[in-house]
Amino acid sequence: MDNMSLINIQNDEGFTKKLLIWYEEKARDLPWRKNTDPYRVWLSEIMLQQTQVETVIDYFNRFLDAFPTIEALAHADEEKVMKLWEGLGYYSRARNLHKTAKIIGTQYGGIFPNTKEALLKLPGIGAYTAGAILSISFNQPVAAVDGNVLRVISRVTEDYRCIDQESIKREMAKHLEAIYPENRCGDFTQSLMELGATVCLPKGTPLCHQCPVMTVCRAYKSDTYSALPVRKEKKSRRLRQLTIFVYRCQGRIALQKRTEKGVLEGMWQLPNIDGNMDSKAVLAHLKEQGNLGARIESFKEANHIFTHIQWQMVCYYISCENTFGDYIWVDSKEMEREYAIPTAFKKFLGWRDMP
Ligand code: ADE
Repeated sequence: MDNMSLINIQNDEGFTKKLLIWYEEKARDLPWRKNTDPYRVWLSEIMLQQTQVETVIDYFNRFLDAFPTIEALAHADEEKVMKLWEGLGYYSRARNLHKTAKIIGTQYGGIFPNTKEALLKLPGIGAYTAGAILSISFNQPVAAVDGNVLRVISRVTEDYRCIDQESIKREMAKHLEAIYPENRCGDFTQSLMELGATVCLPKGTPLCHQCPVMTVCRAYKSDTYSALPVRKEKKSRRLRQLTIFVYRCQGRIALQKRTEKGVLEGMWQLPNIDGNMDSKAVLAHLKEQGNLGARIESFKEANHIFTHIQWQMVCYYISCENTFGDYIWVDSKEMEREYAIPTAFKKFLGWRDMP
């Protein structure tokens, strides 16, 4: 495949026009589309990375209610930011969001920068997010190529090169930028995303007969959509066994901050250790910690899938006569109000789980 692979959309003057007309008519009414304030665009694009639109809507609205401006976010308490992110996963996104809000406050007088160079220096903002902000908020012809857009382009141009390669992404962005319509840059970015999300579907059969650019699409013409896009083979997830403890003492539960590097770094967690213990080993473990009045009340098993690893967990519910260890002990109201606990642990804290 040569570098001219995008020639069909660049030569078809109707391509952008068709997409824009379709987008005007079919765009979903999403809360971040109410206006093009860069704070809202940035927040939504960060939330939408790795997360479905349906999930993001409520988080987005709650986050904006709590922090309506970038200034409010810059001055926010970190625990409150994390609490509003609870359950969304990829928590470094929230930490970077907070860091970037502070930098924009101190270095840019609270005004969102509008150049690619400045945006790329900010924590958590890469080429995709910079492109989304610049095109949607500042009407600049800078492409934002995410998985949806790469799928659309590789199908329309019938490009069999692997879209996981950075050089291919950059090239597709460059070719797209050549056809950005003056004054409608944001709509064009969003029309490509929207087409990928609602018509040019990643799983199952794409809805080609509803596609505004069907007549341009090479994969449609040669019926090759199912072979596109080409992705690199995914590595299988590493498995990790853990034993989780819900220590309960007078209506309070033990929590601790996670110090381990990597997955869920710095988040609140239930105490846990490596390996799946049986109840005998758990009793020995309790004794070792000098926790003599403790009793195992029940246990529950659950799995949690992260991007590169899967946790196979067994959780023991243990009633304790006294608080112990280096934990903080919180009641359910405090937990609900103040502590952001990742879903991997929340799985054991539903009211039905409690003995
Ligand atoms: N996915 C990523 N960005 C999006 C946006 N702005 N609207 C809808 N889905 C998206």
